[in-house]
Amino acid sequence: MTKAADFNDRSLSLGLARVSEAAAIACTPLIGRGDEKAADQAAVDAMRTQLNKLDIAGVVVIGEGERDEAPMLFIGEEVGSGNGPGVDIALDPLEGTTLTAKDMPNALAVIAMGPRGSMLHAPDVYMDKLAIGPGYAEGVVTLEMSPTERVAALAAAKGCTARDITVCVLERPRHEDMIAELRETGAAIRLITDGDVAGVMHCAEPAITGIDMYMGSGGAPEGVLAAAALKCMGGQILGRLLFRNDDERGRATKAGITDFNRVYTRDDLVTGDVIFAATGVTDGSLVSGIKREVGYVTAETILMRSKTGSVRRMIYRNPVS
Ligand code: FBP
Repeated sequence: MTKAADFNDRSLSLGLARVSEAAAIACTPLIGRGDEKAADQAAVDAMRTQLNKLDIAGVVVIGEGERDEAPMLFIGEEVGSGNGPGVDIALDPLEGTTLTAKDMPNALAVIAMGPRGSMLHAPDVYMDKLAIGPGYAEGVVTLEMSPTERVAALAAAKGCTARDITVCVLERPRHEDMIAELRETGAAIRLITDGDVAGVMHCAEPAITGIDMYMGSGGAPEGVLAAAALKCMGGQILGRLLFRNDDERGRATKAGITDFNRVYTRDDLVTGDVIFAATGVTDGSLVSGIKREVGYVTAETILMRSKTGSVRRMIYRNPVS
């Protein structure tokens, strides 16, 4: 068993930024080209190549899917040179494949790393999510509350009215009732078509993004990645796994989950200190997307460590042939 002390988050963090940069840059020729699969594949290939250059004995715990459905970066895949600390890795080489194919905002290449056992091995099912930014008492909003109650509680805690609250929600038919109820409260709603890792992260910087709260269901793997981001940036996320059938319950059992109704807090989803990197593929409120100019490509990465709460934004410019 690897000791947590072996995980030198400080020296590993720049390597992690290179990994998300490589995945995002590999998507460059595919931004706005209408081909989601090709964009995803380019990001996966580049992320894997770069990850394997790191001196880590890594295991993918949140990845592209089970081994039989993902040829690369599948759950359980060993990555890295094998020399170095044992680490768990959560990744989404292209979070927002459709956003990339359509050149819409907030597509990211995302990766988080921590010591073994630091992140929930979330199955590929949906998760009911609720997130807010830093500075609020724990439990100020809960999954048990109705959308109306959440808005009222957050407005009271923020010292404003419901009309001053903006909630981010994935635009899906399954959220129609929730959206209708939110409208009744007077709160503003930022509807996004995809990309709820970015949606949750937006809550951590409300002054920049204008978003106070995220709610609704999306991928459980994305929930763990979002929790890793908030563990670094500050803020709360609550999640409960949602199951549609026995196959999904089987996936959870295989992942070691026994309590199917459990509400996970941020620190249940990510139990140890982690490092997190996300590089913009398309422009967004958190980071800029890839910029192309003759002879150069430029990428912006947000790189963070939960141990220190440090948040870096780094611009990388590199000649291309
Ligand atoms: P992709 O990266 O696979 O395009 O996923 C994007 C995403 O919007 C996630 O951010 C979100 O968690 C999930 O899909 C929502 O799933 P669904 O599209 O089934 O509602």
